[in-house]
Amino acid sequence: MAERRVLTEHLRTPNAYQLDTWQANGGYSSLPTLFARQPAEWVEEVKTSGLVGRGGAGFPTGTKWSFLAKGTGHPTYLVVNADESEPGTCHDRQLLTHLPHLMIEGIICACWAIEAHHAFIYIRGEYAYAAERLEAAIAEAHAAGLLGQTVDGHDFPLRITVHRGAGAYICGEETALLSSLEGDRGQPRMKPPFPAVAGLYGAPTIVNNAQTICSIPFIVRNGGEWFAGINLEPESKSPGPRIVSVSGHVERPGLYELENGTPFREIIYDICGGIPNGRDLKAVIPGGSSMPMLPKDVILECTTSFESIREHGSHAGSGAIIVMDDTTHIPTASWRIAKFYAHESCGKCTPCREGNPWSVKILERMLSGKGDARDLRMLDDICDSMERNSFCALGIAAAWALAGGLRHFRHEFAALIDNPGDVPGYPSPPTYTYIR
Ligand SMILES: Cc1cc2nc3c(=O)[nH]c(=O)nc-3n(C[C@H](O)[C@H](O)[C@H](O)COP(=O)(O)O)c2cc1C
Ligand code: SF4
Repeated sequence: MAERRVLTEHLRTPNAYQLDTWQANGGYSSLPTLFARQPAEWVEEVKTSGLVGRGGAGFPTGTKWSFLAKGTGHPTYLVVNADESEPGTCHDRQLLTHLPHLMIEGIICACWAIEAHHAFIYIRGEYAYAAERLEAAIAEAHAAGLLGQTVDGHDFPLRITVHRGAGAYICGEETALLSSLEGDRGQPRMKPPFPAVAGLYGAPTIVNNAQTICSIPFIVRNGGEWFAGINLEPESKSPGPRIVSVSGHVERPGLYELENGTPFREIIYDICGGIPNGRDLKAVIPGGSSMPMLPKDVILECTTSFESIREHGSHAGSGAIIVMDDTTHIPTASWRIAKFYAHESCGKCTPCREGNPWSVKILERMLSGKGDARDLRMLDDICDSMERNSFCALGIAAAWALAGGLRHFRHEFAALIDNPGDVPGYPSPPTYTYIR
């Protein structure tokens, strides 16, 4: 089994969200090691670890940190992206709720490395309970001298602000998140400049995912080489333990922390207990609903390494694995996903603002038995336009999600036109009407 509990070791330890329990279980033990070395050395150590961001884009964390603009006259900020709105993704929530002190420890380590004295946690508004836990943990850390004017006795002032989002998926995109944090409408900004050069309030800012930051204390405690060694594919450049959220048609859906390079075959059949009710596997979305789905024969050749998923035509994305059995009607599933993007498009650019509602309308027409021969071509064109011309990755993601279904299960879409009304397993056409 390739399960490896590092970040999740104390997820089920009773009261691990409280400071005394966290410290009794080794919490904050990274700090003496941290402060014994200079910030720049830790940036190199994180590079050595090979840690790549867990938020979706898969960018190497140490490299991102090394891009920070210096000598700008502005403060440097750390922003933790805890927006976690990608459908299927639910692991940051557990870390934030049950291990808030790990989050704080990670922030201390990261802020020391990037020389920031103020960190923000942008948390999805629906995670009210997690936000309360975080705020209580921050208060405990202040009272214990782990935050404030000094951190654990070191002359390193640090404060953390928790900011609750208001339920917009686009606010997980790092520049939209920064706009939202500044009090503006949550819409993406042009890049460059990247946040590391001009981010929050125009100051150099590192935006990292919650799980990325929670990985840092383990790199500090055990070293970059140790982290890099958690890798079943030594040539892979996405090492380390990663928590994945498995949902859909498996016997045991849930969160699993896995070594990099774990085969999907092992995840689906051994770790998650296989497909329920004697059904067969049909397809898997390997990295949250934004990533192209892969059919059974392809996914079973694949591992969780970023390279393996990419070579097989998809991406590791947010680490949400959505399993679909052979009862799943792919055009209906694609329609459901397209509805999400149509609802969440921020409206700033035309390909995404118009393309998403149009793909929903066309799919609805086809699913209602009223499609015609031009519809498949139109869906292809919309995907092409959204992928090429969207202002930010939301439009690209929406295109990938639909294009994956069209590529691998085109016959199911074509059958809706050839045999209108014959939607296997879905006798009633959808009643949803998209209103803008
Ligand atoms: C539409 C959209 C939504 C996103 N949502 C999230 C999110 O909820 N959490 C997250 O960490 N990253 C999200 N991202 C990725 C962020 O823009 C950014 O790449 C990430 O926070 C960087 O952190 P990392 O380097 O640690 O992965 C999203 C990107 C897009 C385009
Ligand atoms: S791609 Fe979509 S979400 Fe991104 S800027 Fe354009 S309209 Fe907004």
